[in-house]
Amino acid sequence: MVEGSTASRRYEKVQVIVIIVAMEQEAQPFILKHSLKENNPSPFEHGSPMIAYSGEISAAAGQMITVHLIWNGRCKIHNVNHVATTAAGVSAYASIAAFKPDLVISAGTAGGFSELGAKIGDVYLSTKCVFHGRRIPHSVQPSRDGCRSTLEEYGFGHFRSPPLGHLAAAAGVKQGVVSSSDSLDCSAMDLQLLRSEGAVVKEMEAAAVAWVCQQLSVPFIALKSVTDIVDGDRRTEQEFYANLERASEALQWRLSTVVGCLGGTRLGEWAGDRASGVDISHNCGAEDSGGSSGGDVVSRKFVSDDGDIQQWLFSAAVVGLSVGLGIGLSLVYLGRR
Ligand code: ADE
Repeated sequence: MVEGSTASRRYEKVQVIVIIVAMEQEAQPFILKHSLKENNPSPFEHGSPMIAYSGEISAAAGQMITVHLIWNGRCKIHNVNHVATTAAGVSAYASIAAFKPDLVISAGTAGGFSELGAKIGDVYLSTKCVFHGRRIPHSVQPSRDGCRSTLEEYGFGHFRSPPLGHLAAAAGVKQGVVSSSDSLDCSAMDLQLLRSEGAVVKEMEAAAVAWVCQQLSVPFIALKSVTDIVDGDRRTEQEFYANLERASEALQWRLSTVVGCLGGTRLGEWAGDRASGVDISHNCGAEDSGGSSGGDVVSRKFVSDDGDIQQWLFSAAVVGLSVGLGIGLSLVYLGRR
């Protein structure tokens, strides 16, 4: 398996990205936009439901990166998308084994909390992923070193994302806590837990993918587009289907931008708060163009150490050549006189 802790891997360049998506409708806009091709034969165990699509995408750092989008597939019995945590966890494990990514992204749609500013079509980058639906209350288990750790906290998860404030600003996405459960509905207990953790979006896969990535030391983020308002007055399923296409288009656009920004850079370069260090006018294609041009661009003011050095050497060479040319021309001019 891949060597090194998740934290140390933040300082490796992102060259291979795996994107895990539950629903075909969420995946299609990105597959079409980047002309990703289905892997044939499948890289997964015979009978596995998930389908991998792969391709190369040009990144802002000036290089091509490899992207594998894994759609969790369709249930053979019920003929519906494989949503929720079981399929997401299996897809994450199998695609990390098959593709050895530098980064995994759980991408999809979610319910948002209007009391925290979420609106339909907003896209959120995770600061942390938790499980509000994995509840093991009042349970304490002695651990090997004699400390007592609680299964309650284990169940909840607390999978922190790397700090990526600059990325959020450059890609024009919001940031917040993403919370997962296997249920679309929202019980009073769900609501209490979601609010106590300050979750801004509620969905059904991210924490499961985050758990797999934590076990295998692969950096992970979630990117979620809002289809429905959890604390609103419309029925969730109705609002979800009414906004699925629009939210999936917004997801494609922002996901393309995030991938375009990150490709060829190190996650550690994108830490920091949203306000500083990023030239938003020359960002990674995040300007509001109605959702059609994501991920095509880019020049970053905020560059890596390598980039800084290369830029400095280039400037020094230009100055040196200009001075040399100036002196040469002066000598020719003086010689003629
Ligand atoms: N996916 C989209 N909307 C959702 C919601 N309200 N809860 C869980 N998953 C969702």
